[in-house]
Amino acid sequence: MTVLLDIRQLRIAFDTPQGVLHAVNDLSYTVTEGETLGIVGESGSGKTVQALAIAGLLPSPPARIVSGQILFRGRDLLAMDERQLRAVRGAEIGFVFQDPMTALNPVLTIGRQMTEGLRHHEGLGTSAARQRATELLEIVGIPDPRGRLDQYPHQFSGGMRQRVMIAIGVACNPRLLIADEATTALDVTVQAQVLDLVADLKKRWGTTVIWITHDMGVVARIADTVQVMYGGRIMERGPAEAIFHDPRSAYTWGLLRALPLAGAGTARRLYQIPGQPPRMTAPTPGDPFAPRNPFATRRCHQEVPPLRDAEASVPGHQVAAWYDLRAIRRAAGEAIA
Ligand SMILES: Nc1ncnc2c1ncn2[C@@H]1O[C@H](COP(=O)(O)OP(=O)(O)OP(=O)(O)O)[C@@H](O)[C@H]1O
Ligand SMILES: [Mg+2]
Repeated sequence: MTVLLDIRQLRIAFDTPQGVLHAVNDLSYTVTEGETLGIVGESGSGKTVQALAIAGLLPSPPARIVSGQILFRGRDLLAMDERQLRAVRGAEIGFVFQDPMTALNPVLTIGRQMTEGLRHHEGLGTSAARQRATELLEIVGIPDPRGRLDQYPHQFSGGMRQRVMIAIGVACNPRLLIADEATTALDVTVQAQVLDLVADLKKRWGTTVIWITHDMGVVARIADTVQVMYGGRIMERGPAEAIFHDPRSAYTWGLLRALPLAGAGTARRLYQIPGQPPRMTAPTPGDPFAPRNPFATRRCHQEVPPLRDAEASVPGHQVAAWYDLRAIRRAAGEAIA
């Protein structure tokens, strides 16, 4: 298994009028070639900030990389200059950002925006680039793709724009596709189509994918590995199967209980994790989830738990917790797989 992306001890802060905001704290993880990593967590957990750091698109100031490395195929993206980064961005790493209306330029046709990367990175001529752009729009399921190339973003529906963003993200056949809330604004039918499309692209090109979302249901559909973030830290990470069937973090467990059960209809009220998300300018000393965790021990409030192996028999399942969720659930009489 080849490691494609290796993030080491990444810390990102923002200098704000309220003080230093610690958005990403000691983040370390790897993504291997061909893997689909789902990154989940509530709003403000640092999902987008880390994606922007990988893209080299953090606004600084106010953003500051305090420490760390982002190794892509062994080369540190944080040490690259803008020209080197531009060669990686789009060509080797494709991005689909959170808001297609701001990511797309309103005064340029879709065709122009799609062919730019193809001409720049792939060295295609104008007509070859248009041909390729047409094919890509077709792949993402846009009817009359040739005619659509000459239209502007506002002439596309939200779902269509999202498809265009995905087409641009994969245009240069990147090794790694990073999609940030790419389906959040879409209705469930279109969402399902986009997820099928990504599965298709993986099959076609073997693309490695990082899929960022706050929606556990989406992650359940596509991720091999799930990484649960809170307060800019990894709370738990592991094979999707382990995360969904044997979560070890109280935060993961809360997110899973917040999922509507298939077939349960609308009668079942969604479980909401009680309490407020952490104040990132004034982090509490211990486990960031401790103030909202009914099972928190004294140690949870005092010391940040390190990410450690959750289970010797499940390689890659890691959790950051001082308490033993399994024992707690057993004691509560829950049947645990
Ligand atoms: N430009 C900025 N200036 C100051 N703080 C910022 C800036 N961008 C992000 N932050 C802060 O960094 C933290 C992480 O934000 P981020 O956008 O990564 O969250 P997220 O997990 O992507 O949330 P969402 O699910 O809402 O997209 C938040 O506390 C946010 O307020
Ligand atoms: Mg975000």
